[in-house]
Amino acid sequence: MFDRISGFYDVMNSVMTAGLHHRWRERAADLARVGPGDRALDVATGTGDLALELARRVGADGEVVGSDFSQGMLERARTKAADTPGIEWEWGNALELPYPDDSFDAATVGFGARNFSDLERGLAEMARVVRPGGRVVVLEITTPTRPPLSTFFSIWFDRLVPLLGRFAADPEAYTYLPKSVKRFPGPEALGGALQRTGLTDVRWILTAGGIIALHSGTVR
Ligand SMILES: C[S@@+](CC[C@H](N)C(=O)[O-])C[C@H]1O[C@@H](n2cnc3c(N)ncnc32)[C@H](O)[C@@H]1O
Repeated sequence: MFDRISGFYDVMNSVMTAGLHHRWRERAADLARVGPGDRALDVATGTGDLALELARRVGADGEVVGSDFSQGMLERARTKAADTPGIEWEWGNALELPYPDDSFDAATVGFGARNFSDLERGLAEMARVVRPGGRVVVLEITTPTRPPLSTFFSIWFDRLVPLLGRFAADPEAYTYLPKSVKRFPGPEALGGALQRTGLTDVRWILTAGGIIALHSGTVR
């Protein structure tokens, strides 16, 4: 499915969020607390926007790896980042990351965790490859519980997004999107899952009226 939608994924993101997704990725990269010379991993990187945000922070002396299991998405990321130094795009399954323990200063995932077939395993893998003291960050869509946002969200996500998907010629992918958000744990439960992987200092920020959750924690 992700190979199929890779060609119009970026445009759909900008249309669905009115361009706000860039700001959310900036905030996620801030929470990773990486700086010049650091090594960061962006899991389920897709077309690479969050990895590019990390690359801006680690600079030419650092390294960012954007990992994904969709070659179509990775191809888009490669094209987009052709002029960015210090960034590698690598095929990898988030549930079985092909990296040794403690090999990164931070690991992030943006709008990817809800697609993991085993969430706790994916989170545990991110924590495993980050060194003690490094950061794990999860940026996700979440379901707002209070009106008026919950009403707006339900109309937007259950009706308009599938309709937009039909225009983008992939109705299946954009009916899957609201379903995947609904079955994903809420902010509190996701915080609990991060704690169970052994992370300390687990916190989350809700933004965009409670539609977007940014979770972070520190590896013990
Ligand atoms: C909704 S896109 C998010 C892309 C990007 N991180 C972003 O911020 O826009 C979800 C991505 O997760 C990837 N993905 C889902 N499950 C995965 C897994 N188990 N291993 C690697 N990539 C995975 C998909 O291929 C897809 O590129």
